[in-house]
Amino acid sequence: MTRPHSNKVALITGASSGIGAVYADRLAARGYDLILVARRADRLQALSARIAEAHGVKAEPVVADLGKAEDLARIEALLSTNERLHILVNNAGIARLGPVAQWSADDAVSQIDLNITALTRLTQAVLPPFIARKQGVIINIASVLGIHALPVSAVYSGTKAFVLQYSRGLQQELADTGVQVQLVLPASTATEIWDLSGVPLAALNQDTVMTTEHLVDAALAGLDQGETVTWPSVADTGLWDRYESARAELFAGSQMGTPAPRYSVV
Ligand SMILES: NC(=O)c1ccc[n+]([C@@H]2O[C@H](COP(=O)([O-])OP(=O)(O)OC[C@H]3O[C@@H](n4cnc5c(N)ncnc54)[C@H](OP(=O)(O)O)[C@@H]3O)[C@@H](O)[C@H]2O)c1
Repeated sequence: MTRPHSNKVALITGASSGIGAVYADRLAARGYDLILVARRADRLQALSARIAEAHGVKAEPVVADLGKAEDLARIEALLSTNERLHILVNNAGIARLGPVAQWSADDAVSQIDLNITALTRLTQAVLPPFIARKQGVIINIASVLGIHALPVSAVYSGTKAFVLQYSRGLQQELADTGVQVQLVLPASTATEIWDLSGVPLAALNQDTVMTTEHLVDAALAGLDQGETVTWPSVADTGLWDRYESARAELFAGSQMGTPAPRYSVV
């Protein structure tokens, strides 16, 4: 059964597979027309056709490499001019998991280009129209590795830590504008990102791996509940509350203006 047409549009980056493809399905089920962005045209076209048929919405595939400035500029233009745009899902991301010295600098920068630069530019493009319309939702897909660095994840964790702090700062800036920013921090999820990253999905403890459907349904349930920060796999929400208060306490403890006594020169 299809839902009534909402007349609103959601743009999803990285929609050709994994988490993004499920966001596409779920937002279409909620009546959104879709703009689906990724590099693989065949996958995007097949998904768009399936979703349009299943949910009775319009789904437009837009092939773009968000690591390339000219493609990014095309998507920025779409975001800043589409007056029906209501949701931006900043989902496209890559991971190159391995010791920094064993990957090339180009591999490191490709993660920064997509996970940080593209997300930042697309957000920047959509904010002025969202603020002018006093509505709009930006869903930023970070990772639990944004608060946790492994010996193989220095760059990837750094990019996701950026997404975390960027989103938290934006939430404060946008508090009274009607524009929402939801930060989503998935743990291991069964997608192609793993095999592409250098750490095969099959090598993970399968008990720790979530399906993409569970992940997106949980994240959208969090959005519906008005959450600004969603940890789809974390049962005890007190963990985040305690993390946040320890972080705020540490920050307050840094505002002293003098070296800590242990650094005093005698
Ligand atoms: N899976 C996990 O365990 C996990 C955990 C935490 C966070 N995440 C985050 O979840 C997000 C989605 O990843 P996923 O797990 O669903 O992996 P995925 O299945 O590999 O999806 C990544 C998506 O990004 C697109 N993409 C990659 N490079 C691109 C580029 N240069 N330009 C445009 N699109 C590009 C891919 O499409 P094309 O190849 O067709 O371009 C694909 O649609 C990422 O931000 C990832 O960091 C994943």
